[in-house]
Amino acid sequence: MMILIKLGGSVITDKTRYRTFNSEVVGRLCHEIKESGKDVVIVHGAGSFGHVLAKEHDINSGFKNREQVPAVAQICYDVRELSSMVVSELISAGIPSVSVPTGSCFVMDNRELIFDNGEPVRRFRDLGIVPVLFGDVVTDRSLGFAICSGDQIMEKLAELFDPEMVVFVSDIDGLYDKNPKTERDAMLYDEVDSGILKEVSTKHDVDDVTGGVRAKMEAMLRMCSDNRDCVLVNGNAEGRLLDLLRGEKVVCTTAKGGIL
Ligand code: IPE
Repeated sequence: MMILIKLGGSVITDKTRYRTFNSEVVGRLCHEIKESGKDVVIVHGAGSFGHVLAKEHDINSGFKNREQVPAVAQICYDVRELSSMVVSELISAGIPSVSVPTGSCFVMDNRELIFDNGEPVRRFRDLGIVPVLFGDVVTDRSLGFAICSGDQIMEKLAELFDPEMVVFVSDIDGLYDKNPKTERDAMLYDEVDSGILKEVSTKHDVDDVTGGVRAKMEAMLRMCSDNRDCVLVNGNAEGRLLDLLRGEKVVCTTAKGGIL
């Protein structure tokens, strides 16, 4: 059985500074994954390698004018470079892995990722090589291009590979009732269901063209089932991902019951 892990852009990059890679954190997380001994598929976000230019050039609206085109190419370049750095850390940690650029392997239609049977992902897994997918600009049959978030990729992979657990690694301890970075009395939810989600504020303090924590929790609720937990865990806390992968109880938020 496999565990599907997303390394969020907020933990692998500094989201406020264009193209800033958190190599130490990523290196440690890769070692934690290796140490767990688990079979994994990895997705990562774009962080400041994607969101900064995507917002500046309104990339998620699809093709509007030729001026966006160089920005699309630049973002594709930037996120591929980020992915190479992630894969480099995985290989150094002893995990044979390969970057599978979403926009080079798949297309979208009206922002829906067309994954078919995910053959490249399947075949690398058969070889014992961990596929690493990532949020990317992807050509779109209707819009010309659009942004495919790591969360969308996670949903497709979860449908296709039926993982035993889905893990979102972020820079916060889990889901709070208020923004923990600005509100001192913010309370962490151990578990969330669709009722709780409705009450959660949609505010977030960093520019993010694909939505903040709330959107991630929504995706998580769609991905969990009776025998599959979806967990949001803080990757900046040393050893927490490792403990979670080992089945220990850790500080995190677990999505339960699906979307109602
Ligand atoms: C965004 O991917 C992709 C681009 C902006 C090109 P994600 O939405 O999954 O990235 P993070 O995790 O929020 O940074």
